[in-house]
Amino acid sequence: MNENIKWHEHSISLNDRRKLLGFSNKVLWFTGLSGSGKSTIANEVAKNLHDKKILTFVLDGDNVRHGLNSDMGFSSKDREENIRRVAEVTKLLYESGVTVLVCFISPFRKDRDFARSLIGDDFIEVFVDCSLEECEKRDPKGLYKKARKGEIKDFTGIDQEYEKPNSPEITINTGKESIEECAEKITQILS
Ligand code: ADX
Repeated sequence: MNENIKWHEHSISLNDRRKLLGFSNKVLWFTGLSGSGKSTIANEVAKNLHDKKILTFVLDGDNVRHGLNSDMGFSSKDREENIRRVAEVTKLLYESGVTVLVCFISPFRKDRDFARSLIGDDFIEVFVDCSLEECEKRDPKGLYKKARKGEIKDFTGIDQEYEKPNSPEITINTGKESIEECAEKITQILS
């Protein structure tokens, strides 16, 4: 950090913003394999909360990789930097008072723990538990097929590791429950 850069305090606090919005916002951090249903569920939860007049924003891996993180690949090092930036963006959005739904594979425990350390008690880790077999069967983008043929390297679950959360606040199994059931479960915990 450059010693010539000073921190400016906000004139409006998070609590002030929460009063304005009438809701004590949280961060929902969805983690799970590609194709497990993170984005679909997060968007469904966002709709449910929006209907209850709760302001939300969904940060999605594929979308953020189109812009802010378009220079990131899928090596372990790039994933770490991808998640570090996303964690920092999440913190900014969180401080604005918005309820943030973050859906990234975020395969490494230490990177998710870093995000948690930035947010504190309002960080809710949602493990979207879906077996590799099921995700591969779904293969909505045809990426597992490519990974199996060796056309994509470092694919999570195939030739790169996914570290399951040790103690997530919420676990949902999209192989066993419907999208609506999963979304409802999360919505109820939140509102
Ligand atoms: S993360 O591991 O860095 O958190 P992120 O969520 O941003 O990943 O991006 C994952 C998305 O990128 C997947 O849903 C998939 O569409 C696409 N993708 C492309 N290459 C890979 C790969 N090697 N491993 C996993 N996902 C990949």
